[in-house]
Amino acid sequence: MQVGKSGEEISFGDSANVLRTNIEQIYGGFPSLDGCPLAEGELADIGDGTMFIGLQNYYRNYGSPYKLCFGPKSFLVISDPVQAKHILKDANTNYDKGVLAEILEPIMGKGLIPADPETWSIRRRQIVPAFHKAWLEHIVGLFGYCNQPLIDTLNKRVDGDGKVEMESLFCSVALDIIGLSVFNYEFGSVTQESPVIKAVYSALVEAEHRSMTPAPYWNLPLANQLVPRLRKFNSDLKLLNDVLDDLITRAKQTRTVEDIEELENRNYNEVQDPSLLRFLVDMRGADIDNKQLRDDLMTMLIAGHETTAAVLTWALFELTKNPEIMKELQDEIDEVVGDRMPNYEDIKKMKFLRLVVAETLRMYPEPPLLIRRCRTPDELPQGAGREAKVIRGMDIFMAVYNIHRDERFWPSPDTFDPLRFTRSHSNPDVPGWAGFDPKKWEGKLYPNEVASDFAFLPFGGGARKCVGDEFAILEATVTLAMVLRRFEFSFDESKFEGKDDILSSAQGLNHPVGMRTGATIHTRNGLHLVVEKRGVPK
Ligand code: HEM
Repeated sequence: MQVGKSGEEISFGDSANVLRTNIEQIYGGFPSLDGCPLAEGELADIGDGTMFIGLQNYYRNYGSPYKLCFGPKSFLVISDPVQAKHILKDANTNYDKGVLAEILEPIMGKGLIPADPETWSIRRRQIVPAFHKAWLEHIVGLFGYCNQPLIDTLNKRVDGDGKVEMESLFCSVALDIIGLSVFNYEFGSVTQESPVIKAVYSALVEAEHRSMTPAPYWNLPLANQLVPRLRKFNSDLKLLNDVLDDLITRAKQTRTVEDIEELENRNYNEVQDPSLLRFLVDMRGADIDNKQLRDDLMTMLIAGHETTAAVLTWALFELTKNPEIMKELQDEIDEVVGDRMPNYEDIKKMKFLRLVVAETLRMYPEPPLLIRRCRTPDELPQGAGREAKVIRGMDIFMAVYNIHRDERFWPSPDTFDPLRFTRSHSNPDVPGWAGFDPKKWEGKLYPNEVASDFAFLPFGGGARKCVGDEFAILEATVTLAMVLRRFEFSFDESKFEGKDDILSSAQGLNHPVGMRTGATIHTRNGLHLVVEKRGVPK
């Protein structure tokens, strides 16, 4: 028996009542009958491009979980590590990607992120081995190679007025890295523009736009022919699909048959094409379905590109704001790598650098919320919030941003403090939460969801955790090491004059760089910096 918002008793055993509850929970607009408060407020709170901040404001009023209604649709918003662990790990088969899969399907097809659980379990088993250790060790060198055009570009800016917008440059580097390492394609986007690069950005922008649009107007009859935005998107998508199809065909034609053990132990220094596509084709044979392979590649292109670019952007933002942390980091880079290109062993030695990346992901999780839909009726444990029933069909937002910025799990959560991951923390007021234990991530590249008992979810957790987590950490650390060894940065304040200072202070940034969400957290005004050459330390 549970008590509804207006005090009435609700029996979930009564089937008519369950049906009514189902309808009301899914379609919203009624008092909540399952004990979860209905968040009420201005839609403008979440409609200005900072939805995750709006969800945090509601969380401060209503706790976890609460329900949020968009017109006829309602979402259960979870901001609690114990409940997140339940959904992502303990009861993960009760949930699928729901609305996210509907949005992404036209772009990623049955790629791993939107894949239904049945397709997913086959695909995941085939893709995970591609991220094996020998490949990751080798690919670090390729990250260094892809960073060289960025270093050259920054050197040119130093020779000019020093002004540089780093968010877009990091986006280009991340695209170049994903292109070469995943399907052996040189975008060269740091130095040039091309129709293919524009098509990638168009697909990204559309994926973000769709994830922020409650009504799927693109499914309406003739919409794809009549709406100019959709026509443009479809032609860009076709261009991109043609490029991927061509790469797949070529990879299949040049297939060398090897067995999985040989593949995982191959000497990558002797391999001409070390891409993930090459591995997948060699491993799975020429008969693998082209469309499925294309969906996989497109998913990794989108999932692995903007996320890393966002982490690099926010890491550099926080380091520029915190010169003493920047100095400590540069000292570590000078000592371990100097002017060499970093290798895998270097990254393992640079613990502070890895913690800087982890702390950035805590403060700016990419994406700031995870989406699920309940497939089988479920019950959420209490944790830091309240117990709740979840009915079949209920859409769920897991507000990772709220969990990462909650002082019950992370003391002084708005302070950039990379060393927090070296200290233990527990909270007896949160039943079922084991706290953060630094010993639990010893030997790993980064403090993970296990060490924090799901209070730190940079790459999600459970079965559908990111497959590219270590790849991403290596990519971000190599890029930061190469850039920060060679350059110093300060804010180009002239670019921020008159920009949304009030909003930025409300977001706790203390700088008008501003935040805005799509699939990831972007700056609102760009990361405009002035770059200078760094005096080479003795
Ligand atoms: C899934 C974050 C980089 C490929 C995820 C998820 C998160 C995430 C949070 C879980 C989504 C969910 O549970 O709904 C990140 C971040 C990255 C990053 C923050 C960079 C800093 C990458 C890279 C790749 C990649 C580089 C590939 C090269 C994927 C794939 C999935 C995924 C394929 C779906 C896994 C599945 O459902 O089995 N990522 N990711 N990601 N990510 Fe990443």
